[in-house]
Amino acid sequence: MDIRQEYLNFFKSKGHEVVASSPLVPNDETLLFTNAGMVPFKDIFTGKVPRPTPPIRTSCQTCIRAGGKHNDLDNVGYTARHHTFFEMLGNFSFGEYFKKEAISYAWEFVTEILKLPKERLYVTVHEKDDEAFEIWAKYIDKERIYRFGDKDNFWAMGDTGPCGPCSEIFYDQGSEHFNSDEDYMGGDGDRFLEIWNLVFMQFERDINGKMTPLPKPSIDTGMGLERVVAIKEGVFSNFDSSLFMPLIKEVEKLVNKPYEYKTGASYRVISDHIRSVTFLLAQGVNFDKEGRGYVLRRILRRAVRHGYLLGLKEPFMYKLVDKVCELMGEHYTYLNDKKEFVKELILLEEERFYTTIESGIELFNAELENTKSIFSGEVAFKLYDTYGFPLDLTADMLREKGLKVDEAKFDELMDEQRAKSKANWKGSGDTAKASGDFKNLLEKFGKNEFIGYENLESSSEILAILDENFTQISELKNGQTGWIMLDTTPFYATSGGQRGDSGTINNSKVITTDKFYELNLSKVKADENFKVGDVVKCIVSSDRAMTIRHHSATHLLHAALRKVLGTHVTQAGSSVEANRLRFDFSHPKAMSSDEILEVERLVNAEILKADSTKIEIMNINDAKKSGAMALFGEKYADNVRVLSFGDFSKELCGGTHVKNTAEIGVFMIVKESGVSAGVRRVEAICSLEVLKEARNLQNELSEIYTTLKTNSPLLAIEKLKNEIKELKETLKNASNSKALEISDINGVKVVVSKFDGDIKTKIDELKNSHQKVVALLINIKDEKINIAAGVKDANIKAGELVKAVAGILGGGGGGRDDFATAGGKDITKVDDAINFAKNFIKEKLS
Ligand code: ALA
Repeated sequence: MDIRQEYLNFFKSKGHEVVASSPLVPNDETLLFTNAGMVPFKDIFTGKVPRPTPPIRTSCQTCIRAGGKHNDLDNVGYTARHHTFFEMLGNFSFGEYFKKEAISYAWEFVTEILKLPKERLYVTVHEKDDEAFEIWAKYIDKERIYRFGDKDNFWAMGDTGPCGPCSEIFYDQGSEHFNSDEDYMGGDGDRFLEIWNLVFMQFERDINGKMTPLPKPSIDTGMGLERVVAIKEGVFSNFDSSLFMPLIKEVEKLVNKPYEYKTGASYRVISDHIRSVTFLLAQGVNFDKEGRGYVLRRILRRAVRHGYLLGLKEPFMYKLVDKVCELMGEHYTYLNDKKEFVKELILLEEERFYTTIESGIELFNAELENTKSIFSGEVAFKLYDTYGFPLDLTADMLREKGLKVDEAKFDELMDEQRAKSKANWKGSGDTAKASGDFKNLLEKFGKNEFIGYENLESSSEILAILDENFTQISELKNGQTGWIMLDTTPFYATSGGQRGDSGTINNSKVITTDKFYELNLSKVKADENFKVGDVVKCIVSSDRAMTIRHHSATHLLHAALRKVLGTHVTQAGSSVEANRLRFDFSHPKAMSSDEILEVERLVNAEILKADSTKIEIMNINDAKKSGAMALFGEKYADNVRVLSFGDFSKELCGGTHVKNTAEIGVFMIVKESGVSAGVRRVEAICSLEVLKEARNLQNELSEIYTTLKTNSPLLAIEKLKNEIKELKETLKNASNSKALEISDINGVKVVVSKFDGDIKTKIDELKNSHQKVVALLINIKDEKINIAAGVKDANIKAGELVKAVAGILGGGGGGRDDFATAGGKDITKVDDAINFAKNFIKEKLS
């Protein structure tokens, strides 16, 4: 039985529109990941956007519960039901049906389609929800309906957003295998398994916890696919089902040890985590130091650490990606397209982590030596946080030695971190957008038409004016800034990476143009008074002519990158302006200079071909089938605009473009750099901007010529380098000889001096650079005096000289006639000793 399909078919037969799963990264700043089936519909529930027709939908939504409000990460592997990644079946009513229908559909599906035996079913309702209780009582004995409080029976998407009391259906798996104290209805044991949550959405909670009733009571339900599959297959854990067992088998092969339920937590962790890691990477999330990418990193590292426990001492997670694609690629086809890329990213991240696992163990061992009975909570936390060692592993390792960990300190640090990461993930929440009057405008006027593909000027009527806080006003006064909604508008609103148009409305400046819930609004600094109903003259800025060149060039660049680097290249972001373009894309390493040149060459070849731009409006499915590149995670309408340049590039795009590639003129890549792990960025320019860049470079070069006074700067620079080298040497010698005063007595060079350095080497140097020499050097360091004397071809004995000098300094020593050393103690006598030596030498040589 294909439960996923049965579910969607069932609700389709009840009039629901079947919609595809939305991305794991929601279009919602308040959420870390899509954590429930209702997330993509949040704005419909709260009434920010009009409800769709029909106002009832059904979906099988991929979800992640790791980090954020619903975080199951630490439980995964140790329970039969928790997952980081799972699929949630759901049916949704936006103000259409409510409790009665939701309950009746759920009962029908569970008993007639899934055919679960009624005697095994239980339900719960919110303690105050008599209405739900009475409805359920029509289907099930009252003794099997339990009432619970907010903790169990009130559901909220996050700290803010839609929420409401809920009712859950439970399945009794029987007492045979479940005998823990917690195995009673309402307990924490595994026997009574929650399979379906029906949320009666009635409120929107704001940042202060205030609950405002929703425009209309609604329904949101969620049934975990993995649980239902396990029940239907008659297995006691989700991991024993056909969704996970093939993955566990792969792990068995790698480890070469059979899996057993009791000791198999690590196998389960790996088989769960490889699914979330594969889906997140395939959907464009990358390993990172913070945010979503950090959660992804923690999931992978947790799995790798469990592999290490199983004896896997080198990267292995990447080897499991094939199996995930085999199991799920038929339904989620993008997995197959991204398979190789995903493997490469996982391998790189595993390699990174394998180095810190060892260091983690080193840190553990070092701390162990300092531990008498209690292992430091700080170090345990560091092991957890930095090296991915969960507390229970650290505790296990300590248990063997009869030691304990300071759990209180660990918990304290953990709470601190949770508070921090929660704060990080509160998100800014776009309150201005959310509180605006957009819904009224959409209901009153619908979307306003963009006519700027063909027209750069128009005479349009002002339908509405909003102030800077998006509250409707009837007039925009001279000097004020606000947003104008025109009935038809030539101004392009920022989207798809293309910067929104500026220009003029009458004599006032249009600063930019943006889209708010499908409304195209231009931000205007009024130099006159505008009021609703005015017919105005609109002119798009001439910047647009350059913006379209950069936008079309972006499409050619995207296509060329895929040809040169491979089809794993997908857009991760882009920005198109009048004077430049920036394109971010998935690729695991820096581009070589040959690759950069090849991409540039391909784009220019396509420009030279002068292909006409083809624009077709197509059904989204046909468009994708025809091979048009679509962005993952972008919400597309049913009918989309497909843009092609010859057979070089075909992409979905709502932006404005050249009519023929030749208009782009010429294309030049100016920079290639990394954005984050697995994401590269190319910055490029085209048309007259290339000429500008060339002119700037030319000017710089001329300045260099003038400054260097040459026409061949490379030769001049080479010459300068040599000169600098020579000067440096001269300087070095000069400073060396400057340090010592050399006199000449009858042809013998005489040096008597204090010297801050190696006196023996210095004496050697002096002897090497002069024919006849007598040198005595005194070095004082740390209250100790060292003396050395050297003689070459002169009538003085070095041994005698140092002996006499050392005598003055309270020490002694001696040596050969040509070289001798000695020590002394009395620093106050150094000057006397030097004078003595000078006279001594003078007498002997004169
Ligand atoms: N949104 C509800 C849940 O996730 C159905 O449990």
